[in-house]
Formats: sequence, C-alpha cells, structure tokens
Amino acid sequence: MNKNVIESICCIGAGYVGGPTMAVIADRCPDIKVTVVDINEKRIAAWNEDDLDKLPIYEPGLDAVIKRARGRNLFFTTSINETIASSDMVFISVNTPTKTKGLGAGEASDIRWVEASARQVAKYAKGHTIVVEKSTLPVRTAAAIRSILETPQNRNEENTSKATFSVLSNPEFLSEGTAINDLESPDRVLIGGEDLEALDSLEAIYLQWVDKDKIIRTNLWSSELSKLTANAFLAQRISSINSVSAICEATGADVREVSKAIGSDSRIGQKFLNAGPGFGGSCFQKDILNLVYLCRHFGLLNVAEYWQQVVELNTWQQHRIYRLVLQNLFGTVTGKKLAILGFAFKADTNDTRESPAIRISKDLLEEGAFLMIHDPKVSSEKIYEDLGVSKLETNNEQLFISKNVFEAVNEADAVIILTEWNEYSKLDWALIAKKMRAPGWVFDTRSVVDPEQIKLAGLNFWRVGDGVLG
Ligand code: NAD
Ligand code: UGA
Repeated sequence: MNKNVIESICCIGAGYVGGPTMAVIADRCPDIKVTVVDINEKRIAAWNEDDLDKLPIYEPGLDAVIKRARGRNLFFTTSINETIASSDMVFISVNTPTKTKGLGAGEASDIRWVEASARQVAKYAKGHTIVVEKSTLPVRTAAAIRSILETPQNRNEENTSKATFSVLSNPEFLSEGTAINDLESPDRVLIGGEDLEALDSLEAIYLQWVDKDKIIRTNLWSSELSKLTANAFLAQRISSINSVSAICEATGADVREVSKAIGSDSRIGQKFLNAGPGFGGSCFQKDILNLVYLCRHFGLLNVAEYWQQVVELNTWQQHRIYRLVLQNLFGTVTGKKLAILGFAFKADTNDTRESPAIRISKDLLEEGAFLMIHDPKVSSEKIYEDLGVSKLETNNEQLFISKNVFEAVNEADAVIILTEWNEYSKLDWALIAKKMRAPGWVFDTRSVVDPEQIKLAGLNFWRVGDGVLG
C-alpha cells in the first residue's frame, strides 16, 4: 500500500458516532471502502435494514446519506477480524462509559472496549495500519494503545514481523440531533499525532469536504485533552445558566432576558445559554467525571473540585424541578396523574442516555405519582428499561406511555415538558386544558410554550428561570 493513500477503512463500533461519522466519510469519499463493524448483531442488522425508518438511531438527514452510500462503498458487518485484516486505517469508536466498579468507579472512564479493540487490531492487522482514536478517551490512552499494538505476543504469528502501526487521535465533536450537519460542516477537525505520513493520510480524507484551515493538528495528548475540555466548557455554561435560572426565579428576573443580554457580548456568545432541566446525554457528565478523575490522579485537587461542581449543579437542577412540581401541586403527587412530554435528552434524537427525564420521572414515581409519558421518537420499551420497571408490574398502576399527546394528557393534574421537541411549541392548549383535571398546571422546563396561550387556556404556569407566572 502507498502509505499516504487510504483505500479501505474499518470502524470498530457502529453506535451514535461510528455509524453517522463513517456514513459521511463514505458519502464524501466514494473511492474509499468504509466498513463499520460491531459485536452487536442486532445493531448491525438494523444498519442493514431496507426500511430506513428502522435504522438503529434517529438522526435528521442520516437516512439520505445511508441511502446514497450503503452497498456502494459503505458496509455494516459483524465480521470484525476480516475487516481489520483488509483495512489501511482502523477507527476505534466504541463506548467509553464511566466505570461502575473498582478503582476510579463513578469517575474514571472504562476503556475495556478500547483495549479489546486494540488487541483485536494487533492480532489481525496486516501491513501498515493507522489506528485512529475516535472514542473520547482519558489523556494518554494513545500510549496504552500503542503499547498493545507493539507487543509481539499480541500479534498473530504470521503478522508479527510484518505489521506496523501508527496511532492518531481524532476526537469527534458532533452533537446528536444535528450530527449530519456537524459532520458535513464541522467547526474544526482535530487530529493529534506525531507520524507525519499518518497525519497526512487522515487529513487527506477530511480534505475531500473540509477546508484546510479548519483542520487543526496537535500532539496526541493535546488532542485527547481538548475533547474532554470542550465538553467540560459546554457543560459548564449550562450549569452556569441553570444556576442563574434559580436566582431569576427568586428575584423576578427572566433567565431568557439575562441569556440574551449576556450572550450579546461577543466574548460570551449566545450559544449554550438555554436554561433547562439540566444537561443529559451520554458524554457531558462522563467526560467531566473523567477530567475530575485525571485531576485527582495528578494531585490537582482544587481543579478536580472546580469541575465536579458543574456535575453537582446539574444533578441539583434536576431534583429542583421535581421539588417545584411537588410544591406547586399542594406538596403531594401521590395518585395524581402527571403527563411528561419528552423523554429524550434533547430534541431530534431517540437517545435517552442520562436524560434529565429519567431522574425527574424516578423522583415523581417515588412520590407515588402516576406518569403518562409521551415522546415522538423514544420507544416505550426504552422508557420502561430506563425507569427500571417491568411493563407487567406497573402498567395501569403507575406508568402509561403513549405516542399521542392528547391521550397522554387525559385527566392529568399537570403537564411537565422535559424535551424541546418542536411539536410541543405548537400544541392546542385550549384543547389540552379541557382534557385535564382542574386546577391544571403546566411546567415548562424548556421554554417552548407561549405563556399567553397557557393563560388563555386557564391553566397555571411555571417556567424555568421565571417561576410561577401570574
Ligand atoms: P455507542 O454505545 O452508541 O456505540 C458503541 C458501539 O461499540 C456499540 O454498538 C458496541 O456494541 C460497540 N463495541 C463495543 N466494543 C466493541 C468491540 N470490542 N468490537 C466491536 N464493537 C464494539 O457509543 P457512541 O455514542 O457512539 O460513543 C462512542 C464514543 O464516542 C464514546 O467514547 C463517546 O464518548 C464518544 N462520542 C460520542 C458522541 C455522541 O454524541 N454520542 C459524540 C462525540 C464523541
Ligand atoms: C455534546 C457536545 O455538544 C458535542 O460537541 C460532543 O461531541 C458530544 O456532547 C459528545 O462528546 O458526546 P450532545 O450531548 O449530543 O453533544 O448534545 P448537546 O446539544 O451538547 O446537548 C447536551 C445536553 O445539554 C442536552 O440535554 C441539552 O438539552 C442540554 N443543553 C444544551 C441545555 O440544557 N442548554 C443549552 O443551551 C444547550
């Protein structure tokens, strides 16, 4: 192989990152064969579904990209070893959740799937292979990957003398719900590494559709740390504005006005200043906790505490929303019907990982409330699983899930909006009020409804960052 020209890519991990990222690479680089592999047979089967509504993840625009590239130069398979053996470049895009036991439990990232992937690459790669970290990883993981790849005992006998490797870091900055747009028009592409030829090879792929001035090269450790830092800064803004939402509710200020006023300062900027029920998603909390763990590891205790507060404020905000619902419903929700609108951690995704809706719903179930949950994209199986309840055990007792908003609000004492789905900003509140039990309440944690409409419908209204509106 010409070391600079990549003809075939293998991506280990067909998840929220691996799937869309490789689909866009294949779409933009028709001369490269891109194969996404996973140990999860069901997931791979879903990626190969003829019916594009059955793809394993919901992401606007993904179906069109898959339609163009799949079967042409984009493939999904469980044949991991063969694909590694026939690829010039291997992306590692597996999950890196927070450790649940052992040293660093609750903080450090569990990189066992990254290690397993590296061992598999060591065993099956042939010739020269560029290994690219796509997963978000603790700083210096590239050194561990390199060590695994370079240990002769990890290789197959026939490959031992022939296989060579370069390791690069290429973290992903896409957001769910806007992943395709983020991948097609990224703010920047970050590539860390030392091997110039390998860096050129990876850069050449992105140059097919990304301007050169948007491609940033750094050393490996800066690249790994920049990913954690980017998420920490974004999450910090949300915790900051959520802390201000509570001050607004206490003082009569309006958090939307404060956000606008401070965001107009170009040094601050408008983005990521929406107060809400706290951030969710698979990464913000995990990546900050990973940063906290690293700080502690290096003896930087004040720095660790500083970032820890961003997560603690987020948890506090989620519990705060539940307490507010309780207080406004005369201090009790036992036996009351509460409609939860939105279960995904943000709009335009079916992902519920760390969704604020999970913690808030659990708090309300614990208080004895009957929840009626609506989400346009999250399946009822997923909601049952996230709430840790069996369908048989609770249906008709504490939980009802519907794909119809009007069914979900039937006889409700309160409607609690937890995800900013566009359809919730267009609801007919006069009609909803007629279905609810008086005195009906609306709790808008995402600032999506028009307060005037709620007032006209004769409902009580609480909104994040200005409290109960008279
Ligand atoms: P995911 O859980 O959706 O997907 C990971 C996939 O890897 C799973 O399908 C799993 O079966 C597979 N896998 C695990 N071990 C494997 C192995 N040994 N061989 C083959 N397949 C294996 O995770 P995700 O959301 O795609 O995240 C992946 C990484 O990207 C994480 O490190 C995450 O922090 C990072 N990231 C995620 C996002 C996001 O928006 N979700 C954005 C940027 C970065
Ligand atoms: C986030 C980052 O935005 C991506 O750059 C990063 O690649 C990704 O994490 C990752 O590493 O996984 P994502 O979690 O998909 O992306 O979605 P965001 O749009 O960042 O939203 C995260 C959470 O913050 C959501 O619950 C959202 O509702 C909340 N949020 C966001 C607010 O409460 N207020 C805001 O102003 C913005």
